[in-house]
Amino acid sequence: MTEATLDADAVFSDQWLTLRESADHLARDAQLTHAVDRWLSQRATPAQPLSAARTIVDLGCGSGSNVRFLAPRLHGSQHWRLVDHDASLLAHARLRCEHLKSLDGQAVHLETRTASLDTAWSRDLEGADLVTASALFDLLAPQDVEALADACARYRCAALFALSVDGHIRFHDASGAALASDDDRFAFTALAAHQRRDKGAGPAMGSEAPRLLREIFHRHGFNLREASTPWRLGQESLPLVESLMAGWRRALEEQVPAQRNRIAHWHGQRLEAMLQGQLSLTLGHRDLLAIPREPQP
Ligand SMILES: C[S@@+](CC[C@H](N)C(=O)[O-])C[C@H]1O[C@@H](n2cnc3c(N)ncnc32)[C@H](O)[C@@H]1O
Repeated sequence: MTEATLDADAVFSDQWLTLRESADHLARDAQLTHAVDRWLSQRATPAQPLSAARTIVDLGCGSGSNVRFLAPRLHGSQHWRLVDHDASLLAHARLRCEHLKSLDGQAVHLETRTASLDTAWSRDLEGADLVTASALFDLLAPQDVEALADACARYRCAALFALSVDGHIRFHDASGAALASDDDRFAFTALAAHQRRDKGAGPAMGSEAPRLLREIFHRHGFNLREASTPWRLGQESLPLVESLMAGWRRALEEQVPAQRNRIAHWHGQRLEAMLQGQLSLTLGHRDLLAIPREPQP
């Protein structure tokens, strides 16, 4: 989920990305990770034998959370190309990923590129075996995904996109029952609208991202597997919850400034109940694995 620091310029702090990392890693789908590892292990192209290092491109890599999750779960030597427009996050990523090894103890090389994603499709995907991203696509516009799918189809690489928000946000009481007050509905609807604001390339996909990724990659000749990967946040995640909800409050005040009092009341009540252990929070994501379909003989 990207709301905590989501603004029109899509600026994210290393502190926020670090805070969310363990919830992200816990949520991710193990089956899709195994499936992409198997596919990569069997992939040989005319240009590269099975033993060659796999080239993996991480789009919007931030400070490297996706690399720290995936690299140690994949076999074989790996060359990671980390792409982000934020040079300071890339510096954090380089430092914090430098000692990674593959699942079978082989080398993980890193290369960082400061680039905007709209130029990445043509230059930075070249030679990729796998293109991956986590917590990215709500920020991008549908035409970005069209261009990305087109480039992935050209290189016949796989794609693994983790943790795309799907808009399902619910507080739960101690019995596990979902709450849905008028204020919850008001807040989550306004948050969804805020997420879809223009981040530079037209209205962002927000929680439509999982559906659009599916449609567009299917149309570009990929077989798809998907998994639901929600955050389930309770007492063990209170710093993350506080930061997330502070971001929600800022976003809501931007989106519906006339409703500041209602927002403050809702935020105060829900946060206090979370801090008292009376509520928990689920926040929906989808992971998508796209594998290029074999050409028909
Ligand atoms: C929510 S963060 C996710 C970071 C990382 N993938 C993770 O899971 O922790 C989104 C990242 O995408 C980057 N980003 C957003 N829009 C971008 C764009 N148009 N070009 C390049 N990077 C972008 C941001 O700088 C940020 O690092």
